Amino acid sequence: MLTTALQEEGWEVTAVSSGMEALIKLENGGFDIILSDICLPGSIDGMDILRKSREFNHWTPVILMTAFGTVNLAVEAMKEGARDFITKPFDLDQLLSLLRKCVHSAGTDIVGSSPALLSILKRAFKGAETNMNILVLGESGTGKELLARMIHSESACSNGPFIPVNCAAIPADLLESELFGAEKGAYTGADRTRQGRFEHAHGGTIFLDEIGDLDTSLQGKILRVLQEREFTRVGGSEILHTNARVISASNRELKKETETGRFRKDLYFRIGEFPVTLLPLRERVEDIPELTVHFLKQSGYSEVTVTEDAIIKLKGFYWPGNVRQLRSIVLRAAALADDRIIDARILEIDDVDEAEGLLEESARAARLRENEMIRRVLKETAGNRKKAAEILKVSYRTLLSRLKELEI
Ligand SMILES: Nc1ncnc2c1ncn2[C@@H]1O[C@H](COP(=O)(O)OP(=O)(O)OP(=O)(O)O)[C@@H](O)[C@H]1O
Ligand SMILES: [Mg+2]
Repeated sequence: MLTTALQEEGWEVTAVSSGMEALIKLENGGFDIILSDICLPGSIDGMDILRKSREFNHWTPVILMTAFGTVNLAVEAMKEGARDFITKPFDLDQLLSLLRKCVHSAGTDIVGSSPALLSILKRAFKGAETNMNILVLGESGTGKELLARMIHSESACSNGPFIPVNCAAIPADLLESELFGAEKGAYTGADRTRQGRFEHAHGGTIFLDEIGDLDTSLQGKILRVLQEREFTRVGGSEILHTNARVISASNRELKKETETGRFRKDLYFRIGEFPVTLLPLRERVEDIPELTVHFLKQSGYSEVTVTEDAIIKLKGFYWPGNVRQLRSIVLRAAALADDRIIDARILEIDDVDEAEGLLEESARAARLRENEMIRRVLKETAGNRKKAAEILKVSYRTLLSRLKELEI
């Protein structure tokens, strides 16, 4: 039944009827996910499959199916490295979302299965397969670095190193030698020749984090490396070549900064051959329950439960600090929970410092979303304002005044 259902959803399925048969097939490898019952006919059960698959092919995620009575076994299995388990009876959608999550997060731990996140991940996977320079944009805490690591691990140079450089954290006068290296005697204290991070990243990926914070002189130098694929160490003249894949990230609106001249346009186009934008958490609140459970598990709070009203409260928050902020609020609540239950009262999100200053920001964002909505509805109604006002549930006059504001 599962085979048919999954095939209808576009999955390639190989079904086997015993643990022994599974092991024989697994030896040849080539599977992306293993889905197995814990109890199987014969002497080999789901746990054995899990262990054996680790020996053959340690990264294939294993999902175990279990009946209510064997949940404790499933928990054991998670400790032994099973990716997840699903309790019978389950519906197909539950299983599908689990499978999708597994495929999309193979080798990384990007959690979430909202349609918005999945389509971003799909785009990122496509980018990973190319050798284009990838630019990851998104608000602070949305997972840009996590995504950059995932892109690296999915790319042709995944066996090479992943070398991050935080352009905002390293003082401008040191950054150049950090990036390109320095010859002995290039500056006081340079008592030996040092390789830079572009050299370290040879055969792998260099991750230029917070690239929007680069000062102008370095912007020019980076542009040259991206164009010519060559550079020289500080104080040196030897021309060095780099084959490093370049992924950049920024939480600034880089395009805007090119208009004000703060960021070089030519560099912007070069680093952003393949842009990927991570949505803020408030625009994919469906991911909140999964993320919450993930962070609890990750920090040893597996037995802590979260009430329905706590989830509602979490989903309603504006999340200026995105996933990072969710993590810290959830973990604080877990630490505070006396009875291992996180309910709405224990969640300290109303009195988070940033919240107030961000009301204005929140209003601005809401306005932007409304404008986007107005544009879309107008397009759908082929410019019919009366109809658009009806659909938008605003008065005709309100709509007209907003259109005037928007210069539509
Ligand atoms: N989808 C996700 N699944 C699991 N963890 C996540 C996810 N997104 C973000 N995180 C976690 O949230 C934290 C912030 O993520 P990350 O550092 O990648 O964000 P960022 O966009 O680079 O933030 P900043 O702009 O502040 O540098 C990390 O601890 C990361 O592991
Ligand atoms: Mg970051």
